[in-house]
Amino acid sequence: MPLNPSILSLPPSYLFSEIAKRAKEKQNSGQKLLPLGIGDVTAALLPPIAKAMSECASSMQEEIIGYQSESGTSLLKERVAQFVSSPKTTICPSWIHIQDGAKPIFARLLSIFGRKTRFASFTPAYPAFYDAAFSILEEPSYTHLPPCLDTALKQLEESPPEVVILCSPNNPTGEVFSKDFLQRLVTLANRKNFLILHDAAYRFFLEISPQKGDLPASLYELEGADSVVIEIGSLSKSHGFTGLRLGWAIIPPDLKWPSLASSLTRLFASTFNGACCIAQAGALAALDPVNREEAKKIALTYLKRANLLARHFEQKGWVIESSPFTPFVWMRPGKESLKKDSWELFDLLLERYAIISTPGVGFGPQGEGYLRLSGFAKQGDVDLAIERVQDVL
Ligand code: MLT
Repeated sequence: MPLNPSILSLPPSYLFSEIAKRAKEKQNSGQKLLPLGIGDVTAALLPPIAKAMSECASSMQEEIIGYQSESGTSLLKERVAQFVSSPKTTICPSWIHIQDGAKPIFARLLSIFGRKTRFASFTPAYPAFYDAAFSILEEPSYTHLPPCLDTALKQLEESPPEVVILCSPNNPTGEVFSKDFLQRLVTLANRKNFLILHDAAYRFFLEISPQKGDLPASLYELEGADSVVIEIGSLSKSHGFTGLRLGWAIIPPDLKWPSLASSLTRLFASTFNGACCIAQAGALAALDPVNREEAKKIALTYLKRANLLARHFEQKGWVIESSPFTPFVWMRPGKESLKKDSWELFDLLLERYAIISTPGVGFGPQGEGYLRLSGFAKQGDVDLAIERVQDVL
């Protein structure tokens, strides 16, 4: 049976699987391993979310909940629409397609694209974008855009792809694209007919930040975005749903490719029966405006932990390049003698301090020489990491 040849061109394991494998090899060294690698949540679930899910599960002892709409209940779509709307932009519930997390939505979207789709992404970038393109499509092409945004726009103008992928605030750097830049990008997409896929998984961290100013949380704040942008959202990082799985795609009716939304609905219906009803009940509670302040407190805690790590490593000689809008630390050694490749830096932290980090090169070639640390870790693990790293690095 022939396999998709492009999946065979990928490294044998996904970045975070490789990290987990290497960390496991270190497990028996006697020192407690400090997991600052994958961005997995550690705060307890908010009680109203747990209550809503347990009530949903219990109610099924009386009356079973069977198949539901493949794109989510009407009530949840309304709540998501409220959550993603702002004084600057109104999102209609009918634009929302609820699924089991951002990563599967992204994969399902890609599976309706042509087999030779041309992608371009800003870098460093979340590795699942590249991996999904090569896992799903037969002969995709994938360009990492240059770091200078003016040069990137020029490149997009001269040689437009079919899909541009961006994440703002970006994983791993936390970079948030300015309004002016995003407007130029959206205008160009309209003129050159490319789709913009915006991974908005970290949007909540920008929204709650006192430094947000007029940075756009959603691309729909920009003129012309309704015809070229699909935005993907998730409750994983903002509300502790990494294990529960709940995300959505926003597909505006004015999108330039009218059959895209209907094809996606068609695909959803034939390959998926909707997000788990219990996760949807939890999501309804998570997005109830009365619970926003509690969710905000948790998100601020993650930002604070990232900041603690950043300031500590800065003192130890590292150069910090992440923004205040991300629960991650994006950093590289400042000392010439320590300038190693990312996997060597990963090994150094693992061997010397039993700290699991993420090698920057996993986010594309531009991440070589960098490491990412996660502020989603438990406070005790952040404190221990700081205690262990006492020498100047
Ligand atoms: C990350 O840590 O960047 C991701 O959330 C992990 C993943 O979902 O692949």
